[in-house]
Amino acid sequence: MEILIRKNYDEMSKTAANLIVDQIKRNPKSVLGLATGSTPIGTYEELIRLHKSGNLDFSQIKSFNLDEYLGISIDLDKPYNEDQSYARFMWEELFKHINIKEKNYHVPNGLTDNPHQFCRNYEKQIKDAGGIDLQVLGIGGDGHVAFNEPGTSFSSRTHITALTQQTLDDNYELFYKKSGIPRDEMPHFAITMGIGTILDSRHTLLLASGERKAEVIAKAIEGPLTAQITSSSLQLHPKVTVVLDEEAASSLKRADHYKHVEIMKKKFSL
Ligand code: PGA
Repeated sequence: MEILIRKNYDEMSKTAANLIVDQIKRNPKSVLGLATGSTPIGTYEELIRLHKSGNLDFSQIKSFNLDEYLGISIDLDKPYNEDQSYARFMWEELFKHINIKEKNYHVPNGLTDNPHQFCRNYEKQIKDAGGIDLQVLGIGGDGHVAFNEPGTSFSSRTHITALTQQTLDDNYELFYKKSGIPRDEMPHFAITMGIGTILDSRHTLLLASGERKAEVIAKAIEGPLTAQITSSSLQLHPKVTVVLDEEAASSLKRADHYKHVEIMKKKFSL
């Protein structure tokens, strides 16, 4: 694992955006895996800024989002704060600002009438696109990546999942509260890429910011492999970059070592 520690959220976001830009410049037809949540917003802002300044072209990029709540879908007739779908989040926070083609971005369909068939087909679509080159990930308070909640098999593929109370609480506070939707009406199920799906991507980019993520990031990176912290599965991936701000890195035992490795890699152009 490559672990990059930055002084604050803005620096974390710039580093993450630069890694995505490098991927796009290397291969303008890249397939990106995208995440929702509060963490990648700054990264998307930086990508939008670079696109608007004429330095970043998404015209041949394909993307697949990690997850979507079951039972809701994008509703452009509603104001953004009342539409809590991840499709709407992606539209508002990224897609509407860049030149990615509508046929090339994919967010799981929360209103599918055959969820299991949909999940199988999502896997096929990813495969047909050539697999994911760079997968952006956040981490949940319960250690999840995408909506792979504690206990999910490391070999799981795209599937339907029941959200934990902690995820419901976190997402209610961060997103749903402002919508005015009562807490018990929040969806309790979601479609999510599986851990096996995520581990198949060629490069994973895990982002975390703030003190509330410190303990769980330490478990994911330095703790034992366990399906109770599904992000620990990334320890099995051959190419992981973790970008953290100082607060999210504050419980790591080997933070000094990771900083040293980054300096040495630069010095010797490794
Ligand atoms: P957050 O969510 O970025 O809003 O903290 C991350 C996640 O639950 O995966």
